[in-house]
Amino acid sequence: MNLATLTTQLEEETGLDLKTLGPDALTRAIQIRRRECLLSSEEAYLEFLGAEADEIHELIGAMVVPETWFFRGEPLFSFLVGQISDRLRDRPANQPVRILSVPCSTGEEPYSLVLALLSSGSSPHRWVVEGVDLSAQHIEAARRGRYGKMSFRQCEPTIRERYFREQRERWELDASVRALVHFRVGNVIDPFFLIGEAPFDIILCRNLIIYLHAQARQVMFERLEQLLAPRGLLCVGSAEPLNLPVGRYQRVGPPACFAFERAVAPVPSSTPLPRPAPPRRPSSEPWRPQAASPTVATLPPLPTTPLAPGGNTLPLAQKQADEGLLLDALATCTAEVARKPSADLYYLMGVIYQAQQNPREAMACFRKVLYLQPDHRDALVHLMLLSEDQGEATQAAHLRRRLEQLPSGENL
Ligand SMILES: C[S@@+](CC[C@H](N)C(=O)[O-])C[C@H]1O[C@@H](n2cnc3c(N)ncnc32)[C@H](O)[C@@H]1O
Repeated sequence: MNLATLTTQLEEETGLDLKTLGPDALTRAIQIRRRECLLSSEEAYLEFLGAEADEIHELIGAMVVPETWFFRGEPLFSFLVGQISDRLRDRPANQPVRILSVPCSTGEEPYSLVLALLSSGSSPHRWVVEGVDLSAQHIEAARRGRYGKMSFRQCEPTIRERYFREQRERWELDASVRALVHFRVGNVIDPFFLIGEAPFDIILCRNLIIYLHAQARQVMFERLEQLLAPRGLLCVGSAEPLNLPVGRYQRVGPPACFAFERAVAPVPSSTPLPRPAPPRRPSSEPWRPQAASPTVATLPPLPTTPLAPGGNTLPLAQKQADEGLLLDALATCTAEVARKPSADLYYLMGVIYQAQQNPREAMACFRKVLYLQPDHRDALVHLMLLSEDQGEATQAAHLRRRLEQLPSGENL
């Protein structure tokens, strides 16, 4: 087997666009597995791979990005606790709220939700949490529930003290909590993924979409939509809202949650996409408070009037981005901001750079948005989350304070 054939086979099986994992992801994974199999050369490993049916799964395990941690993107977990409690109020005791975390990687994501629910006093008899991942190694680690300190980078110390036992710089989750998540291996781009399962009220599908190629995304969204109950919630990663299928979802809750409700009827085509942020009001318009409740917030459509003389740049760039033509969208924005700086265009550029896993450029763009429009809530949210991700705690805290001072009912 040669590298080109292997790349095609891996992309077909996993749905991953290998380019998004970095230029050396595959060769690095091959080297890891070659050493683990005690083989002397890449050629010898490729031959072994061709002969051993199960080895492909080990190689995939060595190649995928496992990065995850407890309470990643925390505003989401608090929001979901409220949502689950609201949903439980309206249903009989024998009908639990069903939650799916896919991909769940090594388990931190579904366990975070369980820990948030337990801490809020919610009864475990009233919900069911499932965790699914492509990698059997990750699922095994999730079941073991033993974590290093990096997994707790965003976790309240009291949670770790209460639910984990320390053993030589590793923290093991209580068996009673581990038993509350049902883990299994599965491939979200398999058209028969979780076939026969009852619908889920909430699906967390975070930080995978950005790694998938277009066709895999389509298959995945079709399957997730079949698995999601009417009015169910789909939660995606902070860089992923642009990839949601057009007209199928409406944003709910605070912007930093990136939670979307499945539309009962398709969202009218005048609402082009559930995007991470609505276009900003012109600065001459007086500010009006936004709804504080986590009810459905359909995003207003993009302005149809040209933003600048002779140009329709924002709608064009947004359309290019919606169609996945990210480089074209960036080129459109760059040309226009060179002519006339615009907070909307810098904001869109920031979101695109974020989707491309380029946090530095994304942060530079969000800073420009805030220079032009200091009260741009969504740019503040993105910049704060990126600063946290980059370990810039002081900057993140400063941005959080600025957000809290904004005159709006929506809190982080
Ligand atoms: C970056 S982790 C995301 C974990 C978690 N959702 C989060 O946001 O912290 C990506 C995970 O996707 C899994 N994965 C990749 N392709 C997949 C597929 N086709 N089906 C299910 N899981 C997949 C990988 O094994 C990896 O554990």
